[in-house]
Order: sequence, then structure tokens, then C-alpha cells
Amino acid sequence: MSVPFCSLKYAHDQIKRDVEKAINAVYRRGQFILGAEVEAFEKEYAAYGGTKYCIGVASGLDALYLSLHLLGVGPGDEVIVPAHTYIASWLAITRTGAKIVPVDVDPGTMLMNATHVKMAINKNTKAIMPVHLYGASCDMSQLTAIAKKNNLYIVEDNAQGHGATWKDKKTGSFGDCNATSFYPTKNLGALGDGGAITTDSKELAEKAISLRNYGSTDRFTNPVLGINSRLDELQAAAVRIKLRYLDEWNEKRRAIAQTYLTQLKGVGDIMLPTESYASVFHLFVIRTQHREDLRSFLFKKGIGTMVHYPIPPHLQGAYKSMNFKKGDFPVSEKLAEMVLSLPMWPGLESEQVEWVVNQVKEFFESK
Ligand SMILES: Cc1ncc(COP(=O)(O)O)c(C=O)c1O
Repeated sequence: MSVPFCSLKYAHDQIKRDVEKAINAVYRRGQFILGAEVEAFEKEYAAYGGTKYCIGVASGLDALYLSLHLLGVGPGDEVIVPAHTYIASWLAITRTGAKIVPVDVDPGTMLMNATHVKMAINKNTKAIMPVHLYGASCDMSQLTAIAKKNNLYIVEDNAQGHGATWKDKKTGSFGDCNATSFYPTKNLGALGDGGAITTDSKELAEKAISLRNYGSTDRFTNPVLGINSRLDELQAAAVRIKLRYLDEWNEKRRAIAQTYLTQLKGVGDIMLPTESYASVFHLFVIRTQHREDLRSFLFKKGIGTMVHYPIPPHLQGAYKSMNFKKGDFPVSEKLAEMVLSLPMWPGLESEQVEWVVNQVKEFFESK
């Protein structure tokens, strides 16, 4: 049996007709940038996520960068970010000219650790960037309290958290300005690149609308330096349709995760993701000392897996100039050696999940 790591087929078959209709309508209307689809999507996504405003942009990285920039983060400032995240979280900070201050993650949740955040704050700290990695929410009660006490901004990286909640409030609605990605394989993915900023501030929303469009107020008036980063009409049309299915697809992810959690409990040395967080399981990530062997074993059985992420940002060539070294963030470094993402997408059949579980069990029986 073949079980790909990720497949968009199930979701895309379900919405094929609606997407084709919507794309044809955009094509006929002939407006491809900043039109009715983007406007409608922004309203719908803001309503879904519980924020007053949503501003569509070209990617998650742009959304993160613009969020920080909107809040005035720049050279001389410091931004606290987890050491265990996708490099995009870091790159956004670098692009503002601010200093990256990484903190190690919690060994249980694999997420930003409030104790480390507190210790990293100094007079230059301007913002905290919690990353809701793998679809699980960071402890937003603690992090918002820390931010408030120290007069810091929060910019949530919600690229992997569409639909996730912390105490019934959606991730991406806690920070001053938050960012998400619609990269195709995300829980809410476009048919290409896309992203969005969410905020409750009218002033920041207006600024974002201008910054994403060359810093213009009207067509040829540019009071500030902006960039070109717009969610296009075709992407907005597709992602609008997918938004209607997001909760249903997240439920399917949760059901699959539940099977993994029950069936893989106590198998070999596997550490399972913590259950107590209302995760939307963008990824289902286990930990094992035998990661590479298990990965090749599963590959031979037709099961696709991935590693998110094998090299932490602080040990990447891109950050060589910051002079980090091995041992600086031990929990994150250990995770990079042990994490393995099992197949996870809505539409994964129960026989496929069972096949994955049985093969994992078989691998550990020989250990
Ligand atoms: C945690 C995280 N942050 C930021 C990004 C960047 O999003 P994008 O690929 O849309 O630029 C991604 C996605 O790749 C991500 O997983």
C-alpha cells in the first residue's frame, strides 16, 4: 500500500467544480490584482479568525515581515523567536534589520517556552514571535501576560495554525499584528503562494494596505516606502472556497491524529505530541532516537515521511554571521535529530492510517 506523506487530491476533488467556476469568473472579469475576491476573502478570514481586519499579501514570509515593520520593528530592536521553527520566522526578523533573539523550546510541547522568553527580555526587546508550530497553539495566556507586563508587541506566526485555538480563541487573534501563510500544503492552502496579516487595529490595517502596494494611498501617491506583496485574485478565489471546508478538514486531521495517538502509545521509544493542546495537526510529529532507520523502513513500505526540521535556523549557513554554535539551544537541536512527521492530510483513509501504524509497530518489534 502506498501512503504519501501529503496529498491534496482529496480536498481538491471535493472542491474542483467550485474552484473552476470561481477561477473562470475571475478570468472573465479580467481584474487579477486587488479586486472583489481579495476583498471578500479578507472579510471572511477576519470573521473566521476573530479579528477585525485581514490584509491579504503574497506569502507568509511577507506577512511576518510586514507585521513587524508595521509595528515599527527595525534596527536596534530585538525580537524573541523560538529556536525550533521554520527558518521563515527568523528571516522575517532579519529583513527588518532587528536582532534575532532565539529561545529554546519546551521539551514537552516543542513550542515557545515562556520561562525562556522572560529571561531573554532586555531594554531593546520590542516584540515576541510565538510560532504555533505543527498546528498547536503556544501558551498564549502566559505570553500575552509577559508582553503586557513588559510593554512588548506580539506577532504570531500562524502559518501552521489555521483554525487552532488557545482557550477557545483562535490563534492569529492574540497579537498586535499576526501573520499566516497559504502555501498550498498548509491547512488552508492556496493554489500557489499567498499569505495574510490579521489585526484588530484600524490604523495598522490601513498601513498594511498601503505597504503591500508600494506604500501608496491612492494610485500614484506614495507617502511611505512600501513593497509589492499582494494576494492575487485567483489565489483569493481558491482560498475563499477552501475556507468553507477548513473546520471539516481540521476535524479529519484530528480524527487521524487521535488514531495515531491511541495506536502508537507505548510503541518503542516513540514520544507522541502532547494531547492537551487544541491542535489542528498541520503535521503529526513523533520523536524517536531511531528516526533515520524508521524513516527508511517506512519508505521501503511505501510510506512517505518528512523531517520538520533537520537543521535548526541557528545552525544554518544563512545565520553563520551570528556565530551560534552547537549546544546553544539543546532542546531544539535534539528535536532536529529526533522529529519525524507521519502522513497527515484530510482524506487519509483509515486503512492507510492502520498501515502506517502497523509498519511503525513492526519496525519497533525488531528493535
Ligand atoms: C512556521 C512558518 N512560518 C512562516 C512560513 C512562511 O510562509 P510562506 O512559505 O508562505 O512564505 C512557513 C511556511 O512555509 C511556516 O511553516
